[in-house]
Amino acid sequence: MAKRVVLAYSGGLDTSVAVRWMIEEWNVEVVCVLVDVGQDPDYSESFDDIRARALAAGALDFVVVDAREEMAAQFCAPAIAANALYEGKYPLVSALSRPVIVRHLVDQARKFGADAVAHGSTGKGNDQVRFEVGTHALAPDLEVLAPARLWGMTRADSVDYAAKWDIPIKATKEKIYSIDENLWGRAIECGEIEDPWAAPPEEPYTLTRVTATQPVELTISFRAGVPVALDGVEMSLAGLIKELTDRVGPTGYGRLDMVENRRVGIKSREVYECPAALALITAHADLEDLVLEREIHHEKARLQIRWSELVYDGMWFSPLKEALDAFFFETQRHVTGDVRVRFEAPGLARVVGRRSPSALYDHDLATYDAEDSFNHADSEGFVKIYGLGVKTWAARQGAKNATPAP
Ligand code: ARG
Repeated sequence: MAKRVVLAYSGGLDTSVAVRWMIEEWNVEVVCVLVDVGQDPDYSESFDDIRARALAAGALDFVVVDAREEMAAQFCAPAIAANALYEGKYPLVSALSRPVIVRHLVDQARKFGADAVAHGSTGKGNDQVRFEVGTHALAPDLEVLAPARLWGMTRADSVDYAAKWDIPIKATKEKIYSIDENLWGRAIECGEIEDPWAAPPEEPYTLTRVTATQPVELTISFRAGVPVALDGVEMSLAGLIKELTDRVGPTGYGRLDMVENRRVGIKSREVYECPAALALITAHADLEDLVLEREIHHEKARLQIRWSELVYDGMWFSPLKEALDAFFFETQRHVTGDVRVRFEAPGLARVVGRRSPSALYDHDLATYDAEDSFNHADSEGFVKIYGLGVKTWAARQGAKNATPAP
């Protein structure tokens, strides 16, 4: 059994209770690590308050790591290159943050000489998979502990447990939603959302409440596939994501309502708000339409689906996912240019313009006007040979298809 454990600590009820519970049940030392992935953009609570809670719960130490730029540059940027949408919709909000957290858990485990890491996920979700598979990929020698999978406490039990041990928590017995957030967006589950027929309540949304009275038009600039500027103003990627969230969220853009397939075999109904993620992927994919050669574009579209599944399934640190990253990286060399997007309340976004020094769009080839440089006569032989196989088939065997069904 482990002696010293590094816990992924959020400051919330479950991970605070986990500190005390592991000490009591397993007689371990617990170091709390809070990885800042942008989960509390306005810092509603100071790190000093969170530290005090961790120590009150019995932690040996408390560490904060600011991983916002790291998450943006090393996790969101590859997701943009991959136009990553799990099941065609979900931009992997929680799935992208877990490997960032795992990296820092392992790092702190080494610094503190710990022999295990721990997380507060339950047995029903994807996050346990991501924490555990990720940790084993980076540190096969470390044990991974999941107290919330074993303790069998309800939320009310946890509140009582915290009270019994004088852990100062803000949570109450009735918490309706389970929310996970970071700079890429917010994932909301539980409460009436669990009924897939019920329309999502307005209450849990914070980023996408409609307050805009005018449409918002923005130019997003990319360099080699990475967003670098908004309306011509260059900024860091974490800064750009935050700014974009603040500017387009008020038009109501970025909400998702979906039934998804979890890795653990459950279908769940979840709602999300991720205005920046969806805006960046939409703009990026549009720029690719302009600059990517057809065959690479089509092959990339197939591989994007696979990449998104791997990341959703906790395989961030895996050979196939890394090989796909190398492929996508190669495809992004010329994905440089500007995309103009118009956001209109409630929740509508349209790309209205795109331009690139690497555009493969050739006006003189595409136009139907006088400047047309496309040789129409060349098409005659091309079309004949292209359709030759089907023509041969029709002559021998396929003629019956020409007769309309009775
Ligand atoms: N279903 C999403 C995913 O698997 C969101 C999970 C949110 N996690 C949470 N602890 N509420 O990526």
